[in-house]
Amino acid sequence: MPDSDSYIGRHKSELDTPALLIDLDIMETNIQKMADYMTSVNTELRPHVKTHKSPIIAKKQIKAGAMGITCAKLGEAEEIVNAGIRDVLIANQIVGKHKISRLIDLAKHSDIMVAVDDSKNIQDISEAAVTDGVNVRILVEVNIGMNRCGVEPGEEVLTLAQQIVQSPNLKFEGLMGYEGHTVAKPDREERESATREAMQWLVDTKDYLNKHGLDVSIMSGGGTGTYDITGSIPEMTEVQAGSYVFMDSTYNKVEGVGEKFDCSLSVLATVVSRPENKRIIVDSGLKVLSKEFGVPQPIGFTGLEMTGLSEEHGKIQDSNGNISLSPGDKIEILPTHCCTTVNLHDRYYGIRDEIVESVWKIAARGRSQ
Ligand SMILES: Cc1ncc(COP(=O)(O)O)c(C=O)c1O
Repeated sequence: MPDSDSYIGRHKSELDTPALLIDLDIMETNIQKMADYMTSVNTELRPHVKTHKSPIIAKKQIKAGAMGITCAKLGEAEEIVNAGIRDVLIANQIVGKHKISRLIDLAKHSDIMVAVDDSKNIQDISEAAVTDGVNVRILVEVNIGMNRCGVEPGEEVLTLAQQIVQSPNLKFEGLMGYEGHTVAKPDREERESATREAMQWLVDTKDYLNKHGLDVSIMSGGGTGTYDITGSIPEMTEVQAGSYVFMDSTYNKVEGVGEKFDCSLSVLATVVSRPENKRIIVDSGLKVLSKEFGVPQPIGFTGLEMTGLSEEHGKIQDSNGNISLSPGDKIEILPTHCCTTVNLHDRYYGIRDEIVESVWKIAARGRSQ
């Protein structure tokens, strides 16, 4: 088996499959466009690493203008901090003794910041921080309509914020509210009004805290689908968008977003069987392509439709039975959800002008703990 680095300089069609490809020109353009937009509205960009799970790409985002990185998991944050990035938000609750001790270890090597929505959790983090003599930065997560984590806007937030202010070795930095229920609404008007309504809860809560004498330095939220809505609200200080780096066929249909960012990620697959003219089978199934947002589709062929995935097979229907694809031929498939597809792969093949330019390990792949 060729070493994956030995593909560098070869045509992408020579890659063994299934292989996860990045169109580097498109990815770099997406990274720069998002950074430039945030600069234009005077909001910081803290891209979410859950999409690419790669310190190499995170560093490209920072070089383009991002001020730090958002992570969902401690495992991701460990990879990012190990790579030398200091300003990291874990936009999630870190709960339990073992995980809090890993959080404290990270605080020794970075300016880690974490979301909280529970009084006992605040106490546990403070006690562990005191024991090890470190400081931890804290955002209170507010439920702004997604009904996932987060306390209700207003008084509950104030109570937690006051507790943080009084807790040794914790620094209350501000608020986080993620409008996950609005980011993928395809219609622009509908998305914009739902997002403004959601973010207003966060803004009102900030005002409420200010009235009670608390400074709110950071207001964090936003995703790819709301980058220019949330990003342009004056009170928001930073946006956590992630998917814009790669996009996928789902985000591509979101009005105003699909037009701004192009799809840079694909899975290269090989045709392994063509049992009949209308049925093409490729070597890429559920273990390399996620399908919670629908079955992915081949790129560049009209008349081809992927109709199903089993573990290691993708089934493609050729409606007229006349597309010339035989066992051994390769095709690219566009994911319906970039983030969960990436997590199925060990490495990226970076492609420029059809040639393999780089091979990058997906360092935080599978680091869900
Ligand atoms: C907390 C949080 N912030 C931001 C995002 C933004 O992600 P995306 O750019 O993929 O919409 C997500 C997505 O899951 C998230 O969970």
